[in-house]
Amino acid sequence: MALGRHTVVFVLFCCLCYITAFAVILRTTNKDVWANEFEPIELTCLIESISTNNPRIEWKKIKNGVPSYVYFQSKISGDLEDRGVLREPANLLILNASRSDSALYRCEVAAIDDQKPFDEILISLAVRVKPVAPRCSVPDSVIVGSTVELRCSENEAFPPAHYQWYRNTEELPEEPKTSARFYNSSYVMNTQTGSLKFRTVKKEDAGEYYCQARNEAGTSRCSSQPMEVYDLDIVGISLKVLGVMIAVIFVTVGLCRIQKQGYCSCKDHGDSNYKVPQHSSGMDYVSADEGHFRHKSSFII
Ligand SMILES: *[C@@H]1O[C@H](CO)[C@@H](O)[C@H](O)[C@H]1NC(C)=O
Ligand SMILES: *[C@@H]1O[C@H](CO)[C@@H](O)[C@H](O)[C@H]1NC(C)=O
Repeated sequence: MALGRHTVVFVLFCCLCYITAFAVILRTTNKDVWANEFEPIELTCLIESISTNNPRIEWKKIKNGVPSYVYFQSKISGDLEDRGVLREPANLLILNASRSDSALYRCEVAAIDDQKPFDEILISLAVRVKPVAPRCSVPDSVIVGSTVELRCSENEAFPPAHYQWYRNTEELPEEPKTSARFYNSSYVMNTQTGSLKFRTVKKEDAGEYYCQARNEAGTSRCSSQPMEVYDLDIVGISLKVLGVMIAVIFVTVGLCRIQKQGYCSCKDHGDSNYKVPQHSSGMDYVSADEGHFRHKSSFII
């Protein structure tokens, strides 16, 4: 009885060994692969067990649900034709990753001599793209106390970039209250959208500004641009306006006096030559026109 039980266990064990030994089983070291653009990346397709000597290996790329061949009949084809290599045992090496390589990849191995003759493994590849130089908008000059928004954006980066602002090469903290230097500044920063908004801009906010776009693949910045903050000096402006008004009054009074001194000559030339002809020429026009019209109509009759 005891021997019989042992025999059953042994037979079961052997069956298990047999199935594993005659089955193709694949494994990968990473199912969620991230790569940087223009860098090499290897998608691993390791064969855990196989009995067939020359298994058929295929790689497919699945983008937006549409599969296409990447490795087929022992050749790299499609997008990866010049950039792909198959490495032992069935790994796919991309020599120079491109943003268009982001997709699902399926490694398929068919081993006809095995009991379980087929296995496949799915790997997702995401290619990070470094940001390009962002477009920055910084106003040249603003009035103290006004609301001012500086903007920064770029749209190449993957994953999307985050933005950092710098003033005179010093990074602005996201929250001004956390820094002694920026404590009095009224800005609100949005690192996702690249907006830097001063609710009431101060003299101390003036400086050379630039912005940097950053993601896991790298950073890029725009060139720095100056922002000037000037006082709208009410007293100064009032004094200037007053000065101009006084000057105008003096000039007017002066002109009147000159006009009064040469009263006769001025009136004769000014009034009779300027105003009267304009009026009478209008009258002349009308009467001349009427005469012309009458003449015409009488001619027709
Ligand atoms: C990768 O490809 C890009 C353009 O497709 C090219 O400019 C670059 O030189 C390539 N890099 C390498 C290392 O081959
Ligand atoms: C912030 O404002 C306070 C009061 O106006 C002043 O004492 C302090 O020096 C200012 N800090 C900075 C960094 O400008």
